[in-house]
Amino acid sequence: MTSKTATTEHPILPLLAERWSPRAFTGGAIDDATLGSLFEAARWAPSASNLQPWGFVHASHGSAGFARIVESLAQGNVIWAQHAPHLIVGIAERSKADGSPNLYGRYDLGQSVAHLSIQAMALGLHLHQMAGFSADKLRAAIALPESHEPVVVIALGQIGEASQLPPPLDERERAARSRKPVERFVFTESWPPA
Ligand SMILES: Cc1cc2nc3c(=O)[nH]c(=O)nc-3n(C[C@H](O)[C@H](O)[C@H](O)COP(=O)(O)O)c2cc1C
Repeated sequence: MTSKTATTEHPILPLLAERWSPRAFTGGAIDDATLGSLFEAARWAPSASNLQPWGFVHASHGSAGFARIVESLAQGNVIWAQHAPHLIVGIAERSKADGSPNLYGRYDLGQSVAHLSIQAMALGLHLHQMAGFSADKLRAAIALPESHEPVVVIALGQIGEASQLPPPLDERERAARSRKPVERFVFTESWPPA
């Protein structure tokens, strides 16, 4: 199994350092109790006005629903995501109860997925989020009404071996992770002059 624990400038929680987005997955179906814990973690994320504007549609490998979600993915994602044990579509509600746009819907969905991702790590699972999909195809695949927006597709499972992947994805799977240094995006009291 490929481990890509972050080299951090400051100490952080081990699960945060160990999280990364693999493309090689292994393992069988994810049981209902585990899925329940993942969505429970998502449920307790904070959200603007506690509107909880997120939604999820999930499907197991081998199901007709799984195949429909795969068909909506960009080809570069199909190559590896078609082998994931589970796919989850992350959805944001577009409007508030009074009909005005919920400008924080995607933000709140992102927080719930962050919760889900760390719960997954704690349960020995990894996930890989994807924005590479056709929204129209995905909407049709999961019968999503216009009131809701498909924002992300998430591959979920136990981490596999880089050697399962075709080139160049196998090399990318082994490549070091990188981040901007903290001083490039954190400032004291005001944004720095350009
Ligand atoms: C909203 C979002 C969309 C992403 N879309 C894709 C995608 O379509 N295909 C892909 O291979 N990775 C995708 N990624 C994964 C990112 O490339 C990855 O998280 C980033 O390179 C950092 O790597 P790490 O998660 O391993 O730390 C996406 C991640 C996020 C959060």
